[in-house]
Amino acid sequence: SGGVVDAKNLRVKLVLLGDSGVGKSCIVLRFVRGQFDPTSKVTIGASFLSQTIALQDSTTVKFEIWDTAGQERYAALAPLYYRGAAIAFIVYDITSPETFNKAQYWVKELQKHGSPDIVMALVGNKADLHEKREDGIEYAEKNGMFFIETSAKTADNINQLFEEIAKRLP
Ligand code: GTP
Ligand code: MG
Repeated sequence: SGGVVDAKNLRVKLVLLGDSGVGKSCIVLRFVRGQFDPTSKVTIGASFLSQTIALQDSTTVKFEIWDTAGQERYAALAPLYYRGAAIAFIVYDITSPETFNKAQYWVKELQKHGSPDIVMALVGNKADLHEKREDGIEYAEKNGMFFIETSAKTADNINQLFEEIAKRLP
């Protein structure tokens, strides 16, 4: 008879980057606790949470999540959190073009200074506020990133974001 294939248990460092107010903390809160906070406070420095998921092939993935502060005054701290990260979510607000510009800044920064094999997702959040626009698709494709629109408010595509990115780990 065939051997038993051991389930793999992966542990991965994940960082969220993006402008203040785009919903990074809300995405993490939705994923980890299944909640939404309409009065979410700005993050100071960074916060850490972890969550484990099981993939269909019985691999488990433990995400060690660094939710960074998007306010400009914290930008210099970012390397502390993205250093050694296997996964980065670059988040913008689909209703705010400035936050999309900021997302492009973070993509370039990670291309220069992140791990060479980092897996990046471009995340257009607050999809509940707008018809799907998918502005980011072309940019994400050009930069070899996974693209998804999410809503931390309605939970749309939040679990999918983490599942799809886990499948793309090298
Ligand atoms: P910093 O910590 O300053 O970097 O901001 P952040 O990116 O963590 O933003 P946060 O998650 O705190 O959310 C900012 C605001 O956007 C809050 O008022 C949230 O309630 C709101 N928000 C977050 N996600 C969504 C969403 O998917 N839809 C809507 N409509 N509002 C959202
Ligand atoms: Mg935050």
